[in-house]
Amino acid sequence: MSQSSEDLASPWNPVPKGLEGVIVANTMISKIDGKKGRLIYRGYDIQDLAGNVPFEAVAFLLWVGHLPNPLELDTFRKNLAEHRHISSDVRSFLEGTPHEADPLVVLRTAVSTMGLRPTKKDSILEDGLNLASQFPIILSYFQHMRNDEEIIEPRKDLGHASNYIYMLTGEVPSKEHEHALDSYLTLLADHGMNASTFSARVTISTLSDIYSAIVSAIGTLKGPLHGGAPSKVWEMLQEIGQAENVTPWLKERIANKERIMGFGHRIYRTEDPRSKILKKLAKEIANPDTFALASLVESEARKLLQEEHPDRPLDTNVEFYSSLVLNAGGIPTDMFTATFACARSFGWVAHIMEQLADNRIYRPDSEYVGPLDLSVPKMYDAKK
Ligand SMILES: CC(C)(COP(=O)(O)OP(=O)(O)OC[C@H]1O[C@@H](n2cnc3c(N)ncnc32)[C@H](O)[C@@H]1OP(=O)(O)O)[C@@H](O)C(=O)NCCC(=O)NCCS
Repeated sequence: MSQSSEDLASPWNPVPKGLEGVIVANTMISKIDGKKGRLIYRGYDIQDLAGNVPFEAVAFLLWVGHLPNPLELDTFRKNLAEHRHISSDVRSFLEGTPHEADPLVVLRTAVSTMGLRPTKKDSILEDGLNLASQFPIILSYFQHMRNDEEIIEPRKDLGHASNYIYMLTGEVPSKEHEHALDSYLTLLADHGMNASTFSARVTISTLSDIYSAIVSAIGTLKGPLHGGAPSKVWEMLQEIGQAENVTPWLKERIANKERIMGFGHRIYRTEDPRSKILKKLAKEIANPDTFALASLVESEARKLLQEEHPDRPLDTNVEFYSSLVLNAGGIPTDMFTATFACARSFGWVAHIMEQLADNRIYRPDSEYVGPLDLSVPKMYDAKK
């Protein structure tokens, strides 16, 4: 006799779907307060960091644990700039890449290619510098290659944000645009135990290598429920097009139980604090008509989602206004998620370092809820 899955499912040990509320590690890197809508990096509120502290100093904070003094900051900046070159392996890979490929998939495969010849120094810091410095280069090379344009080589005298925009567009960004992209990088650099960070930590916990861990993280970031949303937000705004379409467009999607991209979050039960800052930045640099349309979509969607889900506040998340900031910064729409990866690479590397400093392999358990003691059908009986 066999037991059905219902017999075996234990009501006393329900598995939290999506691991909601499950703490999988102690971390000193970042903390999210979902009720108050706060995000803290190693003790500092992101409201105080974004736009005030240069992104390179925030990256140093995440990796090293304290804000750098002027000498440390200068050295770290130089180190990042010195690593702005790709290997011949990565270059050959990019030259053979189909032009229509998704830039995030190109980035993921380029990181795999980097892992063919890991750095001889065998140091996570060296590998981290290599990875984080080269993400923007890989993307801008690909952008020019797919458009049959001349490659724009990196400049060592520019900051991380400026160099990326320069390499993509051929123009050094204005102070306003540099400030917006620098703040964007800070806001997106880390975010607790998000899905891609967890992937990176699981992979490195087996004592695999950093390139494999970052490949896992990029693959996880790709989905629209995580990092794949900002281009979808942009497409939504384009599709809605004008103010009079906002309400009917949203009503139709909500009635069909479709998700509105750029809204909702697993942890925040109020507005995502990053969204507030990105909204201000978008107001400064985005096209005013697009900003007005996005603000209208925000208020209308919030109202309609509230009616549909009265017990679950569904506010804008980081992706909503990111799409406006990235578009105004000259980033192609299909590179929004890959640009998110440029920022988050710093958080992934910080978590990889933290995991390795006190490692134990991640090996959770599962509750088997399938049948037991089934008899193999006679047709498979070898003795027959
Ligand atoms: C971010 C997200 C994945 C969080 O997921 P989660 O914590 O697992 O939330 P759930 O999937 O359990 O959703 C809970 C309820 O809210 C609804 N909901 C959540 N986000 C929604 C959205 N953006 N639009 C419409 N409804 C939404 C769900 O349909 C679900 O409704 P139900 O209980 O009637 O089935 C989710 O809010 C989402 O899909 N947002 C849109 C994609 C996005 O912006 N991603 C970027 C994240 S930074």
